[in-house]
Amino acid sequence: MKRIYFILKYLIYSLTAKHKKGYGIHSPFLYDFVREILYGNRYFYAYDNIAELRYDLLKSKKEINVTDFGAGSKVMKSNLRKIKNIARYSVVTEKFGEMLFRLIEYYKPETIIELGTSLGLGTLYLAMPDKKTVVYTIEGCPETAKIAYNNFKEFNIENIRQIVGNIDDKLPELLNNLKTVDFVYFDGNHTKTATLNYFRQCLKKVNNETIFYFDDIHWSKEMEEAWEEIKKNERVTLSVDLFFSGIVFFRKELSKENFTIKF
Ligand SMILES: C[S@@+](CC[C@H](N)C(=O)[O-])C[C@H]1O[C@@H](n2cnc3c(N)ncnc32)[C@H](O)[C@@H]1O
Repeated sequence: MKRIYFILKYLIYSLTAKHKKGYGIHSPFLYDFVREILYGNRYFYAYDNIAELRYDLLKSKKEINVTDFGAGSKVMKSNLRKIKNIARYSVVTEKFGEMLFRLIEYYKPETIIELGTSLGLGTLYLAMPDKKTVVYTIEGCPETAKIAYNNFKEFNIENIRQIVGNIDDKLPELLNNLKTVDFVYFDGNHTKTATLNYFRQCLKKVNNETIFYFDDIHWSKEMEEAWEEIKKNERVTLSVDLFFSGIVFFRKELSKENFTIKF
């Protein structure tokens, strides 16, 4: 997708997305979601700890050799990449990371999968709200995974299970060993085929409370097509488009609706 087209899409989203702060929302579930998750203003110590780590990574002069199994980066073209550039261009932002934290803290999923660990910032937002959750995170690039591993060690976090390898191989193995999955963060390999493939595999393990979180749903035409298909899936009830990410719920008590909400 051309940059100018992407910017235009974002402008349209900013001007047309509704329901800021929950005004005009009738569903109590969605109203709570907007108030507590999108605009929740409780403070958590973990926010500062993760922000400090981000700051250190953004200053890092270290370079690593990246093995890319996914759709690649629109910004970083060489495989020899500076950690500071990875931290700038391909990890979750503070705003969305803190929202992920609130999602976990509020809905209390027990089994979480993250597809695409990168430097581990997203993983920390998923793992820190509750030590009882187990976060499985899959990363294909060994050198990137090593940096994430060191970050987890520095945080002394014990509820992260790091898996290094191609999601195509590791996800089916992992799902085979899990009865159910409560939360999946789809953030590796942003192609239509891979996204829909991972979605369909994880769908077999959803329960009524499961939440799927997709990053970069408007990153490319392919990703937009994948998002459209996901929303249409008969098991999905509520979908929420936040432009940079999309969230879907499977709760049978909710009527099937798609919302675009300003965040
Ligand atoms: C956008 S980054 C993930 C950011 C991270 N989830 C966060 O919140 O900070 C995507 C990561 O997915 C990894 N990746 C892409 N395709 C993959 C694949 N097929 N198997 C394993 N890892 C993959 C890339 O190496 C990259 O580190």
